[in-house]
Amino acid sequence: MRPAIRPAVIEDLPAIVELDEVCFGAEAWSATAWQGEFDRLAEDRVILVADEGTVAGYVVLLVPPVEVDVVELLRIAVAPAERRTGIGGQLMKAALARCAGRTVLLEVAASNDSAIGLYGGFGFDEISRRRGYYAGGEDAVIMRWRETA
Ligand SMILES: CC(C)(COP(=O)(O)OP(=O)(O)OC[C@H]1O[C@@H](n2cnc3c(N)ncnc32)[C@H](O)[C@@H]1OP(=O)(O)O)[C@@H](O)C(=O)NCCC(=O)NCCS
Repeated sequence: MRPAIRPAVIEDLPAIVELDEVCFGAEAWSATAWQGEFDRLAEDRVILVADEGTVAGYVVLLVPPVEVDVVELLRIAVAPAERRTGIGGQLMKAALARCAGRTVLLEVAASNDSAIGLYGGFGFDEISRRRGYYAGGEDAVIMRWRETA
């Protein structure tokens, strides 16, 4: 069964923190950092979860209230056992549906083939790189999406 994509509620916080640790390890956001994301929901954050009884994935967007400002896709992840079943695509589709008429930017490690494959499939193009941006000297790829008519 495909999960439902819905806005996150504060009750999701522990499950999201746990899944973030599984997905990002040392790069995971702390519970305090996640609380900060939830605190900004009324301001400029959109957090969506893939809900199949448990949280199977999530996406975080920074959506500035000023329409001409770019949206940033801050994070997206799917539980390892559930990857490649379309959940990341479901999350992206729901996220981009909230970005009509806007430009969306994201930053991704150059070696992250799965994420780059996902983003490319939704029409994100590489526009720039930050050379040696990550620990270990890996490049960050900056990708951009704009709604096409
Ligand atoms: C990136 C991620 C969210 C993709 O989620 P997913 O649920 O596996 O994605 P989907 O099943 O919807 O795949 C959608 C498309 O993405 C691309 N894709 C996904 N995994 C891929 C892989 N391992 N290699 C190449 N392309 C891949 C494919 O184009 C795929 O379409 P297809 O299955 O029809 O070929 C998931 O791999 C993940 O959580 N990675 C760890 C966290 C992360 O690195 N997040 C991004 C940085 S914030």
